[in-house]
Amino acid sequence: MVLFDLEKTQLVPFQDMNEVHLEELALGNEIFEYLQNTTPVDHKWLQLKLRDFLYHTRDHFKFEEEIMKETLCPILSCQESEHNRVLAIMIQIFKDYMMSADTQILKDYFECEFKPWIEHHILTMDTVTATYLESYEKGESIPGLSDHQCGTSKC
Ligand SMILES: [Fe+2]
Ligand SMILES: [Fe+2]
Repeated sequence: MVLFDLEKTQLVPFQDMNEVHLEELALGNEIFEYLQNTTPVDHKWLQLKLRDFLYHTRDHFKFEEEIMKETLCPILSCQESEHNRVLAIMIQIFKDYMMSADTQILKDYFECEFKPWIEHHILTMDTVTATYLESYEKGESIPGLSDHQCGTSKC
């Protein structure tokens, strides 16, 4: 089973964000494919891949937050708190795996937690962000004065 069907990935109206997303999902596919089809597992190789994935996710989030800061995007704080929450869970899961060498923890995480989360996040907060950035680039948004519309009921 492929974790992400890249052809069907929801695109947002800001191309740089799509490139980062597709790269990250491809890396997720590579790790998930390895977890499913490889025995015995090379834990050293896997740990390096998980590190790459963690760094990629961190940079992905940072990239979005920086550009939102520059453009005074109104949902910056929602993105930041969501990104921080997800990164903290990812770090905890990867630590749990490192302590136990139990790859089932990783399989469950990628399939049942990370996949639904990122698909939903791209469809909601990232789409709202990308729409803002696109209109900002066209000179249509007044910084700081656009509607909030983060798509959640949390804030
Ligand atoms: Fe994103
Ligand atoms: Fe995001």
